[in-house]
Amino acid sequence: MTSKTTIHSYHLLSEIYDPLAAIWSLGHISKSRNEAIKRILNFPDVLVIGPGTCTGFHDFEKGKCKLTLIDSSSEMLAKNENAWSEEFKNKLTTHTCDIRSFKPQKLYDCIWLPYFLNVFSREEVVSLLSTFKSWLKKDGEIHISDFMAPDPRRIHRLLQEVWHGLPMAFFHVVTGNAWHSIHDLPKLASAAGLKEIEIRPTGFGPKDYPWIGNFVCRTPSTNF
Ligand SMILES: C[S@@+](CC[C@H](N)C(=O)[O-])C[C@H]1O[C@@H](n2cnc3c(N)ncnc32)[C@H](O)[C@@H]1O
Repeated sequence: MTSKTTIHSYHLLSEIYDPLAAIWSLGHISKSRNEAIKRILNFPDVLVIGPGTCTGFHDFEKGKCKLTLIDSSSEMLAKNENAWSEEFKNKLTTHTCDIRSFKPQKLYDCIWLPYFLNVFSREEVVSLLSTFKSWLKKDGEIHISDFMAPDPRRIHRLLQEVWHGLPMAFFHVVTGNAWHSIHDLPKLASAAGLKEIEIRPTGFGPKDYPWIGNFVCRTPSTNF
């Protein structure tokens, strides 16, 4: 049986999370998030799971979506909450809870998971994605901003795992993130019954096997 990842102490990181991510990824984590936002800001109903501090998220105001944010850390969510315009606040719903206990009251056109899935083990990622899939409207999409699949070349893979493993070790100790090597997210999405339709790397890491980027998934039954 899979053990359940128990998250704690993200509140300790609300002030340092963004600078750490920026240094570690040379700004590519934020670049990937900005690109994802551009793609999803005009879906009618967007759910963001694990948004954290929401740095850069105010670009959503340029679109037409109604936005729901769910994060288990109120401190992470509070970091940039004053930056939303009064007008956009009417289109914004925020929940502070563990997503595993959330019961959606409606279906979504788009669910975005920005650097959220790496919190969990492989088995949990598959189970979470299957659940999120059931929260989508017909033709809905799951967008994932995260680490790209492991490089098949041994030396490259080693470098990639070291780069990924150092901050993972930090998060494992400080916040309780699952301890794992790099997820092969297209494979896990497919195991969850999703079809990966697009991979859009940001340009970080080797050209042929980049390390950071975005994935877009749909349910296989939909035509696209
Ligand atoms: C690695 S951070 C990612 C933050 C941000 N989205 C980013 O792109 O950098 C993971 C976020 O997920 C939240 N989180 C972790 N486990 C969660 C859960 N079970 N339910 C809801 N939020 C969770 C944490 O509080 C944190 O803000």
